[in-house]
Amino acid sequence: MTQQTNKLRSVVKGVGAALPRRCVTNRELEKTVDTSDEWIVQRTGITQRYIADKDETTSSLGAAAARLAMARAGCGPEDIDLIICATSTPDLTFPSVATMIQAELGIHGGVAFDLQAVCAGFVFAVATADKFLTSGSHRRALVIGSETFSRIMDWNDRTTCVLFGDGAGALVLEAQSGRGSNADRGVLTTKLRSDGRHRSKLFVDGGPSTTQTAGFLRMEGKEVFRFAVGHVTDVMTDAFAEAGLTAEELDWFVPHQANQRIIDASAQKLGIAPQKVVKTVQWHGNTSAASIPLALNAAFEDGRIKPGDLVMIEAIGGGFTWGAALIRW
Ligand code: ACO
Repeated sequence: MTQQTNKLRSVVKGVGAALPRRCVTNRELEKTVDTSDEWIVQRTGITQRYIADKDETTSSLGAAAARLAMARAGCGPEDIDLIICATSTPDLTFPSVATMIQAELGIHGGVAFDLQAVCAGFVFAVATADKFLTSGSHRRALVIGSETFSRIMDWNDRTTCVLFGDGAGALVLEAQSGRGSNADRGVLTTKLRSDGRHRSKLFVDGGPSTTQTAGFLRMEGKEVFRFAVGHVTDVMTDAFAEAGLTAEELDWFVPHQANQRIIDASAQKLGIAPQKVVKTVQWHGNTSAASIPLALNAAFEDGRIKPGDLVMIEAIGGGFTWGAALIRW
């Protein structure tokens, strides 16, 4: 990476998360779905997930996560001039969840919009916010991942309904001057990719323009598993190369939390030591765009992630879409 003086960096100022009140264990699911705790744990590592009640929505969970991130960043409503909410489960087709959160938090300036890249949404949102902040056009961003995937589950389809959960997480990113080296705090590099030929492997079978319904999630689990393990490491390898860093220098690997076996296989492929891998899939299930900020928040709260640590986030989602970002916390 070439040295540049006074390069703007998107520095993490605060992290927050929110979960619905109701926790549903695998044992509870056994009562309504033809499944077992043993099957779910063995295939995925998931032991429980949180399911939103009627009064808990993508915008209310996202606002709660954002409020905590702002408090930890020491920010008031007047300090935020960009809000990006990654979600595939908006409260309404429009307006965006981001504008609902903007109103809820009393933020009246700047710009707010949603971004949809399914499970990779949070990585795409961090990359997008980073472009705004490092261009100098905006100063402080709320980057949110918030989902209520329970609302698009076919609860008669045991191959999908046991895998997902609801929740939200958020980061406050602030534009700060760096030296342009990989020792700077902030987002060091982001790598995004997508390939629309894989639509049929993971999709929702409804929408405003086709069925006028929200639809249900459909997935060819084995195909998604194969693609995830086979392809997602390309963006990580590219991110390390561009930043002039290696997997050995990583302090924390915080991947999308879909399945313990995908996480372990990806870490192993890159030679990342198991003790550096942050895993929350066992507690939250797959919360799509919310899974990475929920995991970042957990590792921040238990004291693992500290200022100066090198963190890689990575995810793959429907489309397919996939990406990685290297962040010096
Ligand atoms: N409980 C009990 N049995 C089940 C369940 C269940 N919930 N679901 C499926 N089974 C049965 C199947 O019917 C099948 O039975 P059969 O052999 O009698 O036909 C058997 O279990 C094996 O099913 P497979 O689909 O072959 O199971 P597999 O080992 O592939 O695991 C899983 C399925 C967990 C979905 C896996 O393929 C996977 O993790 N895929 C990745 C998908 C993923 O994580 N997607 C998340 C969204 S995308 C993303 O975020 C990356």
